[in-house]
Amino acid sequence: MNILKDQNLAKYSSMGLGGDAKYLSEIKNLEDIEEAVSFAEEHDLKTIMIGGGNNLIFSDKGYDGLVMINDIKGISDLGDNTFKVGAGEDWDEFVKFTVDKNLSGIECLSKIPGKMGSAPIQNIGAYGQEIKDTLTEVEVFNTEENKVEIIKNYESEFSYRNSIFKKNIGKYLILTITVKLNTEYIKPPLYESLQKYMDENNISDYSPASIRRAVISVRMAKLPDPKEIKNCGSFFINPIISEELQQEIIREYPDMPNWKQENGYKISAAWLLDKCGFKDFHYDNGMATWKNQPLVVVNEHAKTTSDLLEFRDILTDSVKNKFGIELKMEPVLI
Ligand code: EPU
Repeated sequence: MNILKDQNLAKYSSMGLGGDAKYLSEIKNLEDIEEAVSFAEEHDLKTIMIGGGNNLIFSDKGYDGLVMINDIKGISDLGDNTFKVGAGEDWDEFVKFTVDKNLSGIECLSKIPGKMGSAPIQNIGAYGQEIKDTLTEVEVFNTEENKVEIIKNYESEFSYRNSIFKKNIGKYLILTITVKLNTEYIKPPLYESLQKYMDENNISDYSPASIRRAVISVRMAKLPDPKEIKNCGSFFINPIISEELQQEIIREYPDMPNWKQENGYKISAAWLLDKCGFKDFHYDNGMATWKNQPLVVVNEHAKTTSDLLEFRDILTDSVKNKFGIELKMEPVLI
């Protein structure tokens, strides 16, 4: 295993920004992790593991420790539509693999960029599916106890864009994840924008392959391709607000999208940004919001993470002033 010194991190984040890692190493298996962790202990370094870098932002200071790039490969068929997958496998290639077997469960999560191991961290979700609905367990290396552990679904503290893995960044290095898929197709009505696409195009086939095609079309129309435009997908989490505030805003904006939750009302961060005039908004430091989905912040030609954070503050301050709502960043800032 190679441990490289002073590596720039910008190319490891899809936002394309950030300083240097003191050390960096590619991880292919458990032995590599054990070697890297003991190197870090000897040199008194903190460690972090990253996947495709699609949901993290490195600070300009970089990382004063050892960054491990997850490249653990392999898919094992455990029978009963259950697969154990290396955390370094590409997420969408695995989605395609299951769709090709006519299995349902993650077809709505088609074309989400990133690697398998990142999926449980923020409990990825789109068009009504979340990884928590099919994931059975996660195999991790616990860096506090230096041992391999199995964390079951019910122990993962999954909620909207959150999990035990996100709450304890650095503690659990993800080795494999196991998912159990279904032979039954999903049934309408689907998530609003997806159903609309199905109806408008007269699609009545709800097979995984058909849904995958539809999701890819909807995503392509709305979201930038991270291979072409630097971005981290949704940059803010949809906020949950009190009934009182929801009522207050609805009085002025009766068309505000909102969804009742156990603990209040989830509202659309995209809508809030749109109402503040931030759709297709280009700032002179090289940051912008995407033309078809203002929730996606894109890096057109910014040079530093400070540029990005300055831009973030312009957006959040404006939403705070107009609506009294504090938007929270979705990507993890390291
Ligand atoms: N909207 C606007 N203006 C716009 C775009 C959207 O007002 O320009 C409003 C519309 O009212 C729309 C609402 O925003 O009904 C919601 O938009 P959308 O269906 O695109 O969903 P979202 O809540 O903005 C979430 C996820 C996405 C996921 C989509 C589809 C979060 C933070 N984001 O976005 O996830 O693809 O739903 O399920 O939950 C990601 O996490 O990177 C991501 C792209």
